[in-house]
Amino acid sequence: MPAKKAADLLILNASELVTMATPDPPKRGPRMRDIGAIQDGAVAIRGGKVLAAGTTSSIKEAFSQKKGRPLDASGKTVIPGFVDPHAHLAFAGTRENEMVMKLEGKTYMEILEAGGGILRTVRATRAASEKELLASTLGTLDRMLLHGTTTAEGKSGYGLDRDTELRQLIVMEVASRRHPVEIVPTFLGAHSVAPEYRGRGDAYIDFVIKEVLPEVARLGLARFCDVFCEEGVFSVDQSRKLLLAASRLGLRPKLHADEIVRTGGAELAAELGAISADHLLRSSEKGLERMAGANVVAVLLPGTPFTLMQKEHADARAMVSMGLPVALATDFNPNCMTESMPFIIALAGYNMRMTPSEALAASTINAACAIGVQENVGSLEPGKLADIAVLDAPNHMHIPYHFGVNLVETVIKRGRTVVSGGSLAR
Ligand code: NIG
Ligand code: FE
Repeated sequence: MPAKKAADLLILNASELVTMATPDPPKRGPRMRDIGAIQDGAVAIRGGKVLAAGTTSSIKEAFSQKKGRPLDASGKTVIPGFVDPHAHLAFAGTRENEMVMKLEGKTYMEILEAGGGILRTVRATRAASEKELLASTLGTLDRMLLHGTTTAEGKSGYGLDRDTELRQLIVMEVASRRHPVEIVPTFLGAHSVAPEYRGRGDAYIDFVIKEVLPEVARLGLARFCDVFCEEGVFSVDQSRKLLLAASRLGLRPKLHADEIVRTGGAELAAELGAISADHLLRSSEKGLERMAGANVVAVLLPGTPFTLMQKEHADARAMVSMGLPVALATDFNPNCMTESMPFIIALAGYNMRMTPSEALAASTINAACAIGVQENVGSLEPGKLADIAVLDAPNHMHIPYHFGVNLVETVIKRGRTVVSGGSLAR
């Protein structure tokens, strides 16, 4: 018998192992349901990476664990750690008061125009120190990790001035180094027109292009540049100007597109070769088809209509049918305060009719594609990072089915156990 290869950790006996393996991510159309599920599954890990994933008998035959005991996942589901590809991080303050305003019938844009919404968070964030922002960001990352997220995007956008935007991005860099959750940073200086530029959107975009973007690029603080392309915020022309400037500096475009009004954000995303376009509640069919043709990932955020108390949702079924790669994200922000991808998967099922397997593909491998990290994360394949969540559930369908509670029992990040028994392992 050939000698067994040494592993640092073996996960054995999983009632269901979801590998999400795929040769050419993102998954589209019917392939989103093909999640690479293995009954009685196992994973071998070494040096923070996946050595192999397969049945328990095949893994036991080929590998032995050097020290300690293997993780027994009997009765549990083992999945790739969630990737959350749209989250606003490193802001100060909360906005729980806006729920009552919404119950009284105020819209998101009315709250924003009255100086609430994003602008309220901007005031709090400008006044906050780096230390305060770091403490709150680490708290957010703790809650993400406890809910199975091992990689998250992080957007700035609550400074709207040079120093605060840079401070947000610096805090994300420090937090990412200190915390198991890895942050992929996005510059969102065009999240709203800064209060100093009220009514002068063009001048604000010029300010961002001349004064802030070059610093972000010079310091290497962001991989992507995002913009809130929306009626009453930034027009398609203003968004194009900013995103072209960002591309020239090596920051790939991303967009908040067609959330409230159909402005042509989806078409712009396709035209610019954006890595993703997000929200997409009002996009035209033509715009979505162009996105599919240009390999733009559609990031859907069902937590946002949920917190805005609106019935309309993005048409996920149509997007899957036309072969548009769909991802899901929390849109964690002071208006949509959840760090939980399992909750988003439940909303995607009940409100957008995504199946559990489609929603899980959208929250792992396709989410990784939406932030350009699919080489390293999003599936459990040899050579990829051992970023893994173990759920106290017999199969992945329990994620949306058994909602509103945390089924995540163990989280492994780069091969290290960082959540154990549902608590942070320190
Ligand atoms: O993605 N739509 C714009 N930005 C965020 C909301 C930010 C906020 O309300 O603070 C979003 O929903
Ligand atoms: Fe957002």
